Amino acid sequence: MELKEKIEELNGAIDSASITNKGEQEAFRIQFLGSKGAIKNLYELLKSVPNESKKEFGQLINEVRAKAETKLTTAEDVLATSTQNQSHGLDLTRPGETTELGARHPLSIVRNEILEIFKRIGFTVSEGPEIEDDWHNFSALNFPPNHPARDMQDTFFITKGDGTDPKKEMALRTHTSSVQVRVMENSKPPIRTVSPGRVYRNEAISARAHCFFHQVEGLYIDKDVSFADLKQTLLYFAKELFGEKANIRMRPSYFPFTEPSAEVDVSCTLCHGKGCNVCKYTGWLEILGCGMVDPNVLDASGIDSTVYTGFAFGMGIERIAQLKYRVTDLRLYSENDIRFLQQFKAAH
Ligand code: DAH
Repeated sequence: MELKEKIEELNGAIDSASITNKGEQEAFRIQFLGSKGAIKNLYELLKSVPNESKKEFGQLINEVRAKAETKLTTAEDVLATSTQNQSHGLDLTRPGETTELGARHPLSIVRNEILEIFKRIGFTVSEGPEIEDDWHNFSALNFPPNHPARDMQDTFFITKGDGTDPKKEMALRTHTSSVQVRVMENSKPPIRTVSPGRVYRNEAISARAHCFFHQVEGLYIDKDVSFADLKQTLLYFAKELFGEKANIRMRPSYFPFTEPSAEVDVSCTLCHGKGCNVCKYTGWLEILGCGMVDPNVLDASGIDSTVYTGFAFGMGIERIAQLKYRVTDLRLYSENDIRFLQQFKAAH
C-alpha cells in the first residue's frame, strides 16, 4: 500500500475511534501514539520514501500525530470532568431546575406607587423609628398630657416616665405623623416630604383591624402654603393613583396636629359615584386625613409659625391596597400565605 493511502486510512481510523472510558482512552494511546503504534510505524516507512518527497510526507504524518494527540487530550478532559461530576452526584444529562421568581408584597407595590407619585412633584422620602418617644408621637403633635385625644389611638407603651419628660417615655409609634416632627426639627423650610412606615395599635386582630399596619405621611411647609394647595395636591394624587376620572371631596374633621382638619374621600373606584356595595351606596370612599399644620406643632418643632404655614396628610397603605386589589381581610397582608402573595406577581 502506498504511504499516502496508509496516512489517509489512519486519519479515518482516528476520526472514527470512540473514547468513552479510561480503557478505551489507553487503548487509543497505544494503538496510535504508542512506541509501537501506527504513527511510529509511519515514521519508519518515511525512511524509504525518496528524498524529494520526504518533506511532503513528513508534514502529513506530523498532522496525523497532532490530530491523534488532540483527540486524546480532549477525551482525557471530558472523562475527568464527568468523573468529577459523578462523584458530586451530578447528572448533567438531567433537565435543569428553574428558579421561581418571587413577587413583591402588595403593600410594597402600593407604597412604592404612592411614593413615586409624590416624588414626581418634588417630595423627598424620609423615615423615622418605630420605637418612638412620647414627644414625637404625641406631645409635639399638640396632644396635651392626659388629653382624651390620646385615646383615639390605642398605644403599646414601652416605658412610662414620671410624666415630666416626654422624651423619656417610649412607645411603639401609633402613626407616621411622628416623622413630621423629626423632619421639622432637623431641616429648614421649604420642606416637602413623604414618610412611609409601619405603625402599631393595641387592637384585637380581626378582618378589619390589626395590631400593626402601614401609613404614608405627607408634609409641606413653606411661606404662604394654603388649604387650596393641599386640596390640589391631593386631587393630583387621587388622579395619579386611581385614574383621571377620580374625584375627591373633603369633610371637616378633627386631629390635634392640624387646624383646620379634614377627611378626604375619593369617588368610588368601582362605580365612579353611582353607588355600589363597595362604597355602601354613597359613591365615596374614605382614604386619608389631612389639614393645615397647627401653629403649635410648628413652634414645638422649631419652625417659626409667624413666618411659615404648611399642610400635612396621612393615609393607610392597607386601605389603599384594599381599594386597588379588593382584598378586604386585613390579616391576609401579614400572614405571608404564598398562595396570596403569588397573585401579585404580574402587578409589578
Ligand atoms: N396620623 C393620623 C392617623 O394616624 C393621620 C393623619 C391625619 C395624618 C391628618 C396627618 C393629618 O398628617 O394631617 O390617623
